[in-house]
Amino acid sequence: MKIFVDTGSIKDIQTIADLGILDGVTTNPSLLAKEPGDFKANLKKICEIVQGPVSGEVTATDFAGMMREGHDIAKIDSHMVVKVPLTRDGIKACKALSGEGIKVNVTLCFSAGQALLAAKAGATFISPFVGRLDDISTNGMELIREIVTIYKNYGFKTEVLVASCRHPMHIVEAAKMGADICTCPPAVIEALYNHPLTNIGLEKFLKDWEKAQAVKA
Ligand code: E4P
Repeated sequence: MKIFVDTGSIKDIQTIADLGILDGVTTNPSLLAKEPGDFKANLKKICEIVQGPVSGEVTATDFAGMMREGHDIAKIDSHMVVKVPLTRDGIKACKALSGEGIKVNVTLCFSAGQALLAAKAGATFISPFVGRLDDISTNGMELIREIVTIYKNYGFKTEVLVASCRHPMHIVEAAKMGADICTCPPAVIEALYNHPLTNIGLEKFLKDWEKAQAVKA
């Protein structure tokens, strides 16, 4: 399963990339708005660090505007993926941009029916938001199960990019269900390798080692 980091922070992306396990990056307008500098220059730097898919989202809500912004985003770097919202115009833009060979990530997906449409429109990635569904007392991971089943039934090539991941169990559950990718904030990726028993175990190993060295000396 691929792991993407969900942030616009170049510093955080570099830190996670240094782990050697990073496959891509997702951003959204809220995340990029927090960062200083020109957003296109920032996306270019992110592509250079990651050398994998980097999603940049359109802010236009009409078809023509999405196409214009989508072309601009795609020109930033060959790794750029154009993110469009799962609206009527977003689906149209997905079909048109995908037809031109541009990779599209359809975002803000909250139902299996929406995911089916995105796949039919040629999306490279579908982004169902599990955390935001959990927030309103709906099982976000159940949506992932449905989408994985539907895509498998019909052999759709669209990759299931589990978004709005809030904790490591979202990632583990997604992996068990066969989702293709999880995108998570840096802290959730860090939480994946942190385990108190690992820390306690390591501390004991090192203490025992030191004790033995002292006896031998
Ligand atoms: C995905 O591409 C989105 O940027 C993101 O996962 C949204 O997560 P949030 O619900 O934590 O804001």
